[in-house]
Amino acid sequence: MEAPQRNLALDMVRVTEAAALASGRWLGKGDKDAGDKAAVDAMRLCFNSLRISGTIIIGEGEKDQAPMLYNGEKIGAGGLAVDVAVDPVEGTNLLAFGRPNAISVVGVAPAGAMYDPGPSFYMQKLVVPLAAKDAADIEAPVAENLQKIAKALGKDVDDLVVFVLDKPRHKKLVGEIRQAGARIQLHTDGDVAGSLLAVDPRSEVDLMMGTGGTPEGVLSAIAIRIMGGEMYCKLDPQKQAEKNALAEAGQDVRRVFTVKDLVKSEDIFFACTGISGGTFLKGVRYTGTGAETSSLVMRGKTGTIRYIEAVHTWESLMRFSAVDYD
Ligand code: FBP
Repeated sequence: MEAPQRNLALDMVRVTEAAALASGRWLGKGDKDAGDKAAVDAMRLCFNSLRISGTIIIGEGEKDQAPMLYNGEKIGAGGLAVDVAVDPVEGTNLLAFGRPNAISVVGVAPAGAMYDPGPSFYMQKLVVPLAAKDAADIEAPVAENLQKIAKALGKDVDDLVVFVLDKPRHKKLVGEIRQAGARIQLHTDGDVAGSLLAVDPRSEVDLMMGTGGTPEGVLSAIAIRIMGGEMYCKLDPQKQAEKNALAEAGQDVRRVFTVKDLVKSEDIFFACTGISGGTFLKGVRYTGTGAETSSLVMRGKTGTIRYIEAVHTWESLMRFSAVDYD
């Protein structure tokens, strides 16, 4: 029997917990930038204590707009060369308006294994559980997809629940899903949580359809590769400038990606912590003397999925540096 190797996800959950603890203070305060900044600051401090040589592939955006955790930024105290995807607050508006399912997320893969979205902002996504992997086809009409996916899941179409972002661009999609007879959960934001709910057999969501962020797609792919299930996606530029930039970068909008195209290794790690409570994870509970957090932590090589409930005590934390917060 081999000695267990380092599970980077257990380091990463300290990063997402720190981000959630810092940003949870901004729940419902209407200031999405302040909530995001609190999470970014906490994340960066934690990252720089870790023995990794990380490159941010999915970050807060280009260097000029993002002073920290920007795409291409080097993080860590030196060590294993890895690609890093972060979303300090996935669902900044969910947090700002006190809505469910804002989470803090980190994904890690060996250096060079993560898809770099370049100028792509949006992707069309179809996320299904493992049992429906071969039945789903992102190019097929909505009704046909729902029929085939329902059959593969041993259900009727009217049993299905489809997670869809509540955006004007999805008016036609929502109409087609309703017409086909499936049920819908509409969420204003948060399609990483939506993707994970779609592949989690314990959730009432059966699949996710529609267009969301490309960076969120890469983060979701890391989790889906570990949990099982599939995400089919295509670059889906929403504005002419994005279309032009993709053409210039030689990106093919007709290409169908799977999770293996977005993260080309199984030696991957994923951690996320709930900020606002919802169907996905509990939110941060401040207790007066500390706080409690709920996280999901996963490792690709072993397929281990952990749900971690952590109790943080302010008095003990104060005796250590911010980095040793737990
Ligand atoms: P932010 O946390 O960056 O606000 O992203 C939230 C989100 O809803 C994502 O989950 C989703 O992929 C993306 O925004 C959709 O973008 P848009 O709101 O522009 O349609």
